[in-house]
Amino acid sequence: MARLGVNIDHVATLRQARGAVYPEPVHAAAVAEQAGADQITVHIRQDRRHIQDRDLQVLIQTVQTRLNVEMATTPEMVQVVSAVRPHQVSLVPERPDEITTEGGLDVVTHRADVIRATGDLREAGIDVSIFIDPDAPQIEASAAVGIQNIEFNTAAYAETPDESVARAELARLLDAVNLAHGLGLHVAAGHGLHYHNVQPLAEHPYIEEFNIGHALIARAVFSGLDGAVREMKRLVG
Ligand code: PXP
Repeated sequence: MARLGVNIDHVATLRQARGAVYPEPVHAAAVAEQAGADQITVHIRQDRRHIQDRDLQVLIQTVQTRLNVEMATTPEMVQVVSAVRPHQVSLVPERPDEITTEGGLDVVTHRADVIRATGDLREAGIDVSIFIDPDAPQIEASAAVGIQNIEFNTAAYAETPDESVARAELARLLDAVNLAHGLGLHVAAGHGLHYHNVQPLAEHPYIEEFNIGHALIARAVFSGLDGAVREMKRLVG
């Protein structure tokens, strides 16, 4: 049975669009947890376009499950997030003008940054995960730097309109999950997953966690967050 991490960034995006005090991400976190979320996930971006420092401070005091914070590997972000001490940090790549995270972190190229950020975060008592593409060199590099948790970027599988590409990307993901599990890594998955594409991954016994945001919040707009989370939890659980 996999954990469901509910990403609530879009709630903060809506608030920031108006410069208002609502909708409140903390409220979303509480509703999501009551509906069965096992974890609340947020991405604090360097440009603070959605989640703010204040959100982290309130979430860490109110989240009853686990708080997973996605962030870039910069010293500034390490400092900001270390002060909050969430249960887990997920290291992600970040490009200032991207709409959303565009790919996995290249652990091979950014090995030194990953080692530095991981060391500092662990010293603050925080578990570290890395968001990577489902490629053998990235998996092996993650294991080699002593990482225990990885999250596979599912975008190439989830976002292609071409069914044969989706089948090939699914096979690539499942191979990657098996390789990572064999190396002793805990495996999560996320990005672009929704109610109609999560099932084949949910059936895999080695994927321990899913982090899902856009599809959940999009459904919540029309039918409420409680039902949206319950249905996704049923699919991944
Ligand atoms: N995992 C990571 C590392 C992400 O950056 C994101 C998007 O913020 C997600 C999961 C969730 O992706 P989506 O919003 O497409 O469900």
